[in-house]
Amino acid sequence: MQTDDAAKPLRARRSGPLKGTVRPPGDKSISHRALMLGALTVGETRIEGLLEGEDVLSTAAAMRAFGATVNRSGAGAWKVNGMGVGGLLEPDHIIDYGNAGTGVRLAMGIAGSHSFAATFTGDASLVKRPMGRVFDPLRRMGVQVLARAGDKLPATVKGPTSLAPIDFRLNVPSAQVKSAVLLAALSAQGTTTVTEPTATRDHTERMLSAFGAAIEIGADVDGNRQIRIEGGHALKPQAIVVPGDPSSAAFSLVAGLIVPGSEVTVENVLLNPTRTGLIDTLTEMGGDVAILNRRSVGGEEVGDIRVKASRLRGVKVPAARAPSMIDEYPVLAIAAAFAEGDTLMDGIGEMRFKESDRIATVLAGLKANGVAAEDAPEQLLVHGSAKVAGGGTVATHLDHRVAMSFLVMGLASEKAVTVDDARPIATSYPEFRALMTGLGADLADAGS
Ligand code: S3P
Repeated sequence: MQTDDAAKPLRARRSGPLKGTVRPPGDKSISHRALMLGALTVGETRIEGLLEGEDVLSTAAAMRAFGATVNRSGAGAWKVNGMGVGGLLEPDHIIDYGNAGTGVRLAMGIAGSHSFAATFTGDASLVKRPMGRVFDPLRRMGVQVLARAGDKLPATVKGPTSLAPIDFRLNVPSAQVKSAVLLAALSAQGTTTVTEPTATRDHTERMLSAFGAAIEIGADVDGNRQIRIEGGHALKPQAIVVPGDPSSAAFSLVAGLIVPGSEVTVENVLLNPTRTGLIDTLTEMGGDVAILNRRSVGGEEVGDIRVKASRLRGVKVPAARAPSMIDEYPVLAIAAAFAEGDTLMDGIGEMRFKESDRIATVLAGLKANGVAAEDAPEQLLVHGSAKVAGGGTVATHLDHRVAMSFLVMGLASEKAVTVDDARPIATSYPEFRALMTGLGADLADAGS
């Protein structure tokens, strides 16, 4: 995102019961991948329900820079005419990916499968994030990478004339890393194997399969999930319907649970099992959460989720659940603050490598609002007491999910909660303020 303009503080005040129905924007993970795979086909891919947040618009711009034709034909309706696997063109300028970690990591995988140089950069948050996790496997495939110290952006990626397939074991549970390797592997001379000891979101595999890639999912001898993909096959254009983003739905769901008297329905939410950890956790906390009208949309399960305000209790969230709710811990911490008793979130070390060090940012935000909490390298412990004082200002460090989470806190705390900068919300959920206000949330500019 643009960081040269002034920050825009936003304040949330204790609100009356939230009532109504919201439809969250398209899933961010699927939206990035739809544009990218469309760019790797010859012919027209049509997308409905695309998230039109800044992160995904950065991917649209990046695919154009690589030679694809990407056009918007209506709200969420996009068409991509691509160049085929291995057929992208050398960008004639540096690709600025703004705040978008998923976008840049996947795009660098694609760039690595082409024998031209492409240079990537990003905003003040993105240039701090680790890229070595993607560069290491790409280097093994023969890709040249020139990056800032510590494998940070800006970086230039240049693929070899012939890309080597690899056997790769994910040592960080990251769908972004897995996806970067799978996308590069589309052009490799042979079969690439990716083994993931902890299953992460599987949108890339599902979509590659729908686009006609030679991809198989199985298990290794130890039972770890294993993906095999053979390079050198063309992809076929598709019609894609993007379901609603569960990570955006999360804010309305938690708000509906903690604001007394509320009843909120969030429609058309993706229920892929690699993304539903928050729903399980809120249910375990005693939340009244009902999934209605389960159905299949574009090869993914979706449903409408209805919540009613509930007395929540603290729980221990097991480490094994982390990949299925990695982006939802900030807003879970808010639910935990309003619960009775301790909530321990375990095995969440990856949170430190998000748009901000989310364990540290969330901990500081909780403390600024009178909530007792502690952290450890891989944990966050929130001492819930059913009431939250509020009254604090939260430093969001260009982190959209931290901003939205603490605005949700302010809707039920004694005193208002202010976030220092609401601009990053536009990266993933431009409609957040309008949709929450429509439910009855009291959100107002806080001046600077
Ligand atoms: C994403 C994967 C996750 C998640 C991010 C989106 C994806 O990141 O936090 O918001 O679309 O692949 P990691 O792969 O780094 O865990």
